[in-house]
Amino acid sequence: ELAQIGVTGLAVMGRNLARNFARNGYRVALHNRTYARTESLIAEHGSEGDFVASESLEDFVASLERPRRIVIMVQAGPGTDAVIDQLVPLLEPDDIVIDAGNSHFPDTIRREKALAEHDLHFVGMGVSGGEEGALNGPSIMPGGSPKSYESLGPMLEKISAHVDGVPCCTYVGSDGAGHFVKMVHNGIEYADMQLIAEAYDLLRIGLGASAGELAEIFKEWNSGDLESFLIEITAEVLGHVDAETGKPFVDIILDRAEQKGTGRWTVQNALDLGVPITGIAEATFERSLSASTPQREAARQKLEGKAATWEVTDRDEFINDVRQALYASKVVAYSQGFDQIAAASKEYGWDIDRGAMARIWRGGCIIRARFLNRITEAYERDPELPLLLADDYFADAVNSGVESWRRIVAGAATNGVSVPAFSSSLSYYDGIRAERLPAALVQAQRDFFGAHTYRRVDKEGTFHTEWSRDRSETQQ
Ligand code: 6PG
Repeated sequence: ELAQIGVTGLAVMGRNLARNFARNGYRVALHNRTYARTESLIAEHGSEGDFVASESLEDFVASLERPRRIVIMVQAGPGTDAVIDQLVPLLEPDDIVIDAGNSHFPDTIRREKALAEHDLHFVGMGVSGGEEGALNGPSIMPGGSPKSYESLGPMLEKISAHVDGVPCCTYVGSDGAGHFVKMVHNGIEYADMQLIAEAYDLLRIGLGASAGELAEIFKEWNSGDLESFLIEITAEVLGHVDAETGKPFVDIILDRAEQKGTGRWTVQNALDLGVPITGIAEATFERSLSASTPQREAARQKLEGKAATWEVTDRDEFINDVRQALYASKVVAYSQGFDQIAAASKEYGWDIDRGAMARIWRGGCIIRARFLNRITEAYERDPELPLLLADDYFADAVNSGVESWRRIVAGAATNGVSVPAFSSSLSYYDGIRAERLPAALVQAQRDFFGAHTYRRVDKEGTFHTEWSRDRSETQQ
């Protein structure tokens, strides 16, 4: 009997995806570069479902029903191309190759094009939720041809997470759309994590509280608007004590955040598209700042000033202010991320349904949160919504917290606490709603030194002033 789906690349993510398919009743073909890994999967989990193990790629391909559905789950990069190159000669028209790694979307666009020339479907599929999600239900963001989704979609929807009976998987758009949306998901993940980290730092400094006490605050926040996986695990982490030293676990970790590249890609693409995603950018840069060891060392020696202290007089008010600032900054970060999806959708011709993206992020993925329901609702109210932040619900929520937000950002500045994501989000809020921006002066300067021209508020057309001559104005 032939298998309905195959997985090649059986490191922990591939292994768990394969098991997830099998547990959902699918017959799963297995392949790995070294056969020992395939054997260990069968030895440890063979009883969970119906597996067909093959040692060679040829046998693996032959063990699949047609059109074949083959999931590649290898470290994104040249390894993905290597596997594709080996697979393609073995495949037949209409077969579907699925890349479930964190691939960069331009690579996905390139691969999709190349495989289409062989009459093969290539699906760039974002998968979020880590090991646990891969096994028990991830959020899945597949791109590619609509035809490939007809064959693959029902299986993916079955193995994905479900919220209120609705799968956290939907067709995203053609070629690189799925990997693009996963990339933005990760950018938002960076922003969310940084914002939570800033809230933690403020509470730590302002309240002088122990990690355990802070854990309680996050636990409480997790029952309100902020309810989310990342807040939940923050409470867990803060409550954890290092077994070796008996100290709070968070205090024994080196304060140097690493990154594998998806946040950086999100920011690079935003620069290309001209979309201000300041929250994600600050979060990404802050990881780099934390890892700038020699620079930090030099700065610590020379850039004086008192260590950050904050004399909080009203504890409850302060906690509430930090919570409001966190929520408002989070809305900004999501609003910016969805703005980027809209711009990319237009630029690359993807026609992405933003409300549906929020829907499939409600469960399974790292940024899963109660709040995402509200985003879906906002786009249901107005699918063309120009700015999530300006949706009635979110505008009310942010407007009502803005005094808290200002107190926190102002207080942080006064007291020397670094809050890059909180403060840049507040600046974005004030900038995007401003009646008039100082961009007018920037335009004037550009025209002064480079004859770059400007437009006027009072009439149509493009103008230039002869700055170095008689300052007369000419219409271009
Ligand atoms: C997910 C995660 C996953 C991974 C990140 C980590 O959605 O399941 O985002 O993809 O944990 O890539 O990224 P960094 O190593 O860059 O923090």
